Amino acid sequence: MRLRRTHTCGALRESDIGTSVILNGWVGSYRDHGGVTFIDLYDRWGMTQIVFDPEFSSEAHTIAHTLRNQFTIAIRGEVRRRPEGMENPSIETGELDVYVREFELLNTSKTTPFDVLHTSSVHAETRLKYRYLDLRNPELQKKMIFRSRAASLIRSYLTELEFVEVETPILGRSTPEGARDYLVPSRVNPGKFYALPQSPQLYKQALMVSGFDRYFQIAKCFRDEDLRADRQPEFTQVDLEMSFINSDDIMGLLEGLFSTLMRELKGVELQLPLPRISYQEAMLRYGSDAPDLRFGLEITDITDILAQTGFGVFRRAIDQGGCVRAINLKGYSEELTRKDLDAMTPFVKPYRGKGVAWIRMNESGPQSPIIKFFSEEEAQHLYERMDAQVGDVIIFLADTQKIVCNCLAALRTHFAKRLKLIRDDAFAFTWVVDFPLFEKDDDGNPTPVHHPFTAPKAEELHKLDQSPEDVISIISDAYDLVLNGSEIGGGSIRIHDHATQQKIFSLLGIDEQEAKEKFGFLLDALQYGAPPHGGLALGLDRIMMLLLGTDSIRDVIAFPKTQKATDMMTEAPNQVSEEQLEELSIEVFLMDDDEDE
Ligand code: AMO
Ligand code: AMP
Repeated sequence: MRLRRTHTCGALRESDIGTSVILNGWVGSYRDHGGVTFIDLYDRWGMTQIVFDPEFSSEAHTIAHTLRNQFTIAIRGEVRRRPEGMENPSIETGELDVYVREFELLNTSKTTPFDVLHTSSVHAETRLKYRYLDLRNPELQKKMIFRSRAASLIRSYLTELEFVEVETPILGRSTPEGARDYLVPSRVNPGKFYALPQSPQLYKQALMVSGFDRYFQIAKCFRDEDLRADRQPEFTQVDLEMSFINSDDIMGLLEGLFSTLMRELKGVELQLPLPRISYQEAMLRYGSDAPDLRFGLEITDITDILAQTGFGVFRRAIDQGGCVRAINLKGYSEELTRKDLDAMTPFVKPYRGKGVAWIRMNESGPQSPIIKFFSEEEAQHLYERMDAQVGDVIIFLADTQKIVCNCLAALRTHFAKRLKLIRDDAFAFTWVVDFPLFEKDDDGNPTPVHHPFTAPKAEELHKLDQSPEDVISIISDAYDLVLNGSEIGGGSIRIHDHATQQKIFSLLGIDEQEAKEKFGFLLDALQYGAPPHGGLALGLDRIMMLLLGTDSIRDVIAFPKTQKATDMMTEAPNQVSEEQLEELSIEVFLMDDDEDE
């Protein structure tokens, strides 16, 4: 390469006018204006308009006609001010042009499968197949660069506070996060498998036993679970763990971290401390353990008011231990049509809701398909509790608590969008604390809400020895960090004594043998002076999505997987040769779907 750049394509400014510069980059677009050819030359840093004018170089101008989009070129030329009225204020180099005197073709390009600079209507799979071209788009590059800055800020923040960055193995044993594992066969141990880590959980606890005191890692985690818009099978955690601390210390540290990130990356001053809400209150007021606090539309329980109601649907739900809860869509009666209200019932179907009732508070009195079933007293109570006034619409749901929460949480978000209550630039962080330690599985047995190393709150410890009802009511010392209705992190204080850990395992129906088999080394380690410790893991991909305002996790991952967990570019996963399988002592036979169960 003869012409090595003196400037990047985003660097030139007014002060460079009159100088001779060399630029390297890609042909972004190409305009022939009868004799003079304009090209947008771009690279990671920006775009500069270059001009092939026969008066400057007749040779260069002839060459210009052979150029196509995405050719890689080098030019030497003279920086000139653009003629008045021709400036482009939307780019930083928009005041000037570079008039080409010398040209070097660095590479040609086949016609690209899509316009690299305009990808919004291109099929997602095509973009993923040619991800290296997709990533040549400045918008996507900006997201990757933003992510790199975030990672660097996180590293400096934690390193400054004496956290030690330790890499933990990828080839390991199954970890306890509870998703399905990705397995890797071992050639030298035929029939045995490594599990890719769902998180570095066990290792970071081991590091606390070792005395590192403060650990962090920007760690790849692997979970074979069904993908959603904010989930990938391979994702990144900012994982950390500390010793001799309590949950307030950890939450305080993270608040400092987010305060830095928001200031440096978004220019936003976070109000600290961040709000904290208990799990129970979050479920009651928002129907979700990851509440979106950018808008109100809070849920109110009205079960007590309707306990004796004549409305069969509500009465039955209550008699069966369920509840009735409502949201006042305050002042939105006019904006919401009958169609909006009728659409609620099909909307809640996927959340197993059977129907949604409503009352419109009209000038002429309340209007509703169900009001006739309420006594005068019930109605009055209800209006008072719901602060019902003319212009409001109240929506109701009766069912089990779980279904009511799920449906109302979904309706809450639905109406917030429908009524445009969410500001684009709003960031609402909250901690959710006081999670239950256990929940009941389908068979009624306790399973961990977080993972089995989570400690109960100190004042709840005694319940471990009490009745099953007491056990299921134990509150854990766990905390989730939520941003705009997404869980962006979670952690807990861990159990650091062997006896409590054993007790939890036995409550979970994990006998000594199984516990030894699954987490043997950690149980042993706890017996060698394990310090009190706790930590948390942040979902870096999700945080990037939220800070960048994109609703696809793929936009913040350089080489993401599709819905079917495939990598379109490398075509992984793929079949392997017979020899490879033989070496691994593996024979593949594909089961029929119905045998698969
Ligand atoms: P947890 O399982 O809650 O905790 O994970 C921590 C955070 O990781 C993010 N996350 C994901 N992001 C993208 N794709 C996925 N498939 C995915 N799964 C999880 C979420 C979540 O809040 N070891 C514990 C942490 C601890 O106790 O310290 C753990 O992994 O944002
Ligand atoms: P029905 O008696 O089934 O015609 O229902 C009367 C009204 O109650 C309709 O507006 C339904 O949408 C509503 N409804 C039905 N089931 C429920 C429920 N579980 N919770 C709230 N409203 C319901």
